Amino acid sequence: SQTFQLAVIPGDGIGPEVTAEALKVLEAVAGDEAKFEPTRYDLGAERYLATGEVLPDSVLEEIRGHDAILLGAVGGKPGDPNLPPGILERGLLLKLRFELDHYVNLRPSRIYPGATSPLANPGDVDFVVVREGTEGPYVGNGGTVRAGTPAEIATEVSINTAFGVERVVRDAFARAQKRPRKKLTLVHKTNVLVHAGQVWSRLVAEVGREYADVTVDYLHVDAATIFLATDPARFDVIVTDNLFGDILTDLAAAVTGGIGLAASGNVNPDRTAPSMFEPVHGSAPDIAGQQKADPTAAILSAALLLEHLGLDAKARAVEQAVVDELAARVTGGEDGTTGRSTPLRTAEIGDAVAARLT
Ligand code: NAD
Ligand code: IPM
Ligand code: MN
Repeated sequence: SQTFQLAVIPGDGIGPEVTAEALKVLEAVAGDEAKFEPTRYDLGAERYLATGEVLPDSVLEEIRGHDAILLGAVGGKPGDPNLPPGILERGLLLKLRFELDHYVNLRPSRIYPGATSPLANPGDVDFVVVREGTEGPYVGNGGTVRAGTPAEIATEVSINTAFGVERVVRDAFARAQKRPRKKLTLVHKTNVLVHAGQVWSRLVAEVGREYADVTVDYLHVDAATIFLATDPARFDVIVTDNLFGDILTDLAAAVTGGIGLAASGNVNPDRTAPSMFEPVHGSAPDIAGQQKADPTAAILSAALLLEHLGLDAKARAVEQAVVDELAARVTGGEDGTTGRSTPLRTAEIGDAVAARLT
C-alpha cells in the first residue's frame, strides 16, 4: 500500500467549497493500494489580509515535500482596497507554478456525455491545450515610468526562451503521438509578435522532424478563437504560450459545457517538484459561499492528479463517475424522471460522484 502526501490549498471564494468535494472523491476512491494524506495550507486572501503573508518561504519548502498539490482557487473580493489585483495571483499561484517548474499547463477539453455545449452541432470534441506555464508575459518582466501622468509608459515584456519553448513543445509532441489523431496545432500570433513567433515556429518545426507521424499545423490566435467556436472537433493537441493558453482555455471550457467542468494540471514533467492540480476557473466571488459552484472541475482535476501519480485505474473511475453523474443530472437518473428543476448544490454533486465510487 502506498500513501500519497497531498498539499491542499483551498484558497478563496468557491475554492474551499469545490476542494472539499474533490477531497471527498479522493477519499472515496482511495483503497488498500493507495491512501491520501491531505495537509491543508491556509493561503489566500484571508491570510494575507490578517498577516500580510502570501506564500512564506518556509511554507513553500514544506509544500515542495509533497507528492502533489490540490488547489481550489485564489483571488479576493473585487474592489477590496486592501487587496490590490495581482498580489495573490502573482505571489501565490504564479509563484507556485514558477518555483515548482510547472512548465506544462495541461488543460483537456472534452464534451462529456451529459454535458451541454452551447454549440448546436459541436461534433466529437476531445482536445488538450498544452499551455506553457513558466514564461511569456506572465514572468512580470516590465514596469511603469512616469506613473500616473499623461506620459506614463507601462511595459509587460514577454519572455520566450529557446529552452522554455523547446521543452513544452517536446511535451506536446509526445502527447500528440500517443493520441489517435496525432495532430498538433501551434497557436501564436507570428504575424505580429515576430520575435517570439520565430522561436515558437522554429522549435515546432525542428522538434517536429523527430515526430514524423504527427501532423503539424498552425493558427494565429485570433483565427483559433473562430474555430474553437465553430469547429472545436478539428483540434487534437494545441501548444501555445502562457497568455494565449489562458484565454483559449476559458473559451474551450465555455464551448465544452461550462467553466464549472474544466480541469487542469500544472505539471512538472521532470518530477523535480510536485505538480499542482486545480480547476481552470477562479474564485468566483459572485457565487462564493452559496453552494452554487459546480465542483466537477475540481473533481476532474483530482482525476488528473491520480493519473499523474500513476493511479490510472482510479483516475478513469473518477472520470466515469463524473460522466455518470452528469448524465443523471440531465436525465434525472435511472428512474427515467425528467431533469431536476433546481440546480444541485456543490456538496450534492460531490456526494453523488463519491457515492458512485464506494
Ligand atoms: P472566475 O473563473 O472566478 O469566474 C468567472 C465566471 O464563472 C463567474 O460568473 C463565476 O461565477 C463562474 N464560475 C467560475 N467557476 C464556477 C464553477 N465552478 N461553477 C459555476 N460557475 C463558476 O473568473 P474571474 O471572475 O475572472 O476571477 C475571479 C477571481 O479569481 C480573480 O481574483 C482572478 O484573479 C481569480 N482567478 C484565479 C484562478 C486560479 O486560482 N487558478 C483562475 C482564474 C481566476
Ligand atoms: C488561470 C488563471 C490564472 C492564469 C491567473 C489567476 C493568474 O486565470 O489559471 O487560468 O492566468 O494563469
Ligand atoms: Mn485563466
